[in-house]
Amino acid sequence: MPLSSLRSLQLGSCAGDPTLLDAANPSEFVLAGSHRLVRLRSWASRGYPSTVARFLVTGGAGFIGSHIVQALISAGDEARVLDDFSSGREENLEAFTPGAVGSGAAVELLRGDVADADVCGRACEGVDGVFHEAALVSVPRSVEEPERTWEVNSTGTLNLLEAARSAGVGKFVFAASSAAYGESEVLPKVETMPVDPRSPYAASKVAGETLLASYGASYEMQTVSLRYFNVFGPRQLDDSPYTGVIAIFARCLLEGIPPTIHGDGSQTRDLTYIDNVVAANLAERKRGAPTGSVITVGGGGRVSILEVYRTMAEALGSDLEPVFGETRAGDVMHSLADLQRAEQLLGYRVEVPWTEGLKRTLEWYQSVHSGPSEPSDA
Ligand code: UD1
Repeated sequence: MPLSSLRSLQLGSCAGDPTLLDAANPSEFVLAGSHRLVRLRSWASRGYPSTVARFLVTGGAGFIGSHIVQALISAGDEARVLDDFSSGREENLEAFTPGAVGSGAAVELLRGDVADADVCGRACEGVDGVFHEAALVSVPRSVEEPERTWEVNSTGTLNLLEAARSAGVGKFVFAASSAAYGESEVLPKVETMPVDPRSPYAASKVAGETLLASYGASYEMQTVSLRYFNVFGPRQLDDSPYTGVIAIFARCLLEGIPPTIHGDGSQTRDLTYIDNVVAANLAERKRGAPTGSVITVGGGGRVSILEVYRTMAEALGSDLEPVFGETRAGDVMHSLADLQRAEQLLGYRVEVPWTEGLKRTLEWYQSVHSGPSEPSDA
């Protein structure tokens, strides 16, 4: 039975035990629950079919994407990674020994740019869902390079949605951003608030959300945008001026170079440890929020950038004083997520608070830190 005809069975199906469509053929597909088709790969020892789904993870060699890949593999699923390695790193995937597309490896690797529609088409063939993490993630870089930011973050998202639609992929999860909330003084930020993009980066991510909503409304595709709030953790690049503040501070402290705090450091962020973000993505893979949903995913509190620095310096036993510089263009002042919708739709809870996440992150940077190296522009 061709995949395209099986896809149509998703409509009107009900939740429950998987319905076996072709038990005789272990390479066939089964209908699992109400949202997805999964491939039947092997028989478990007790005589029941085991099902394995393959998900496309764009940016899967990068910080957030590689953690999602790891979680999918741990959960018994498979992954296809699309990454242009502009900020992704091969070492983030080497534990999985990736193979080429079609090789049958648990992790398949396709090198390419989401701005290339043909590459997106190849990436989406035969996958059961998409986690779209590939992006230019820096607010200041977007101010310097608005067109490239749009090309990757917005056109790239359109390319992937279109490729997913053509391939009959039924599920699409997008890494959206809390930058959508902009400068509103109301805290916490709740999904019903109007968007207020203050940078080309924020605009590009809001555009991605609206594309997902429109595809969810127009086609047989369940689309969900997860608005991440300042994600940090192991594997976040620390050798780029465009990376997250914790990674930059960690490197400065470990190398004894005074970091720059932009403004007076009183701006606050809802720092979200990577494991929480991964849990939200994996929950969405199983639960299926209403199509077009926007859901904020945060760390459960907010902390000033100066306090972040002081906490990190204390943890590393450093008395290095920061330098205070100009406020950054496009910066928002305060950020805090309202987590009620995430709790309701995803069963989300903050599993790792930022202080514990920071401890784990610093341990990781200490373990990999091997002296100064030249900054890259990734
Ligand atoms: C971050 C993410 C963005 C995400 C958003 C969600 C990165 C690189 N950016 O943007 O993708 O969508 O959160 O909320 O992960 N700062 C300093 N000194 C530095 C670096 C930063 O003072 O050396 C300050 C910044 O001015 C800012 C704060 O720290 O006020 C956080 O900056 P950053 O980590 O770049 O994150 P956002 O711009 O909030």
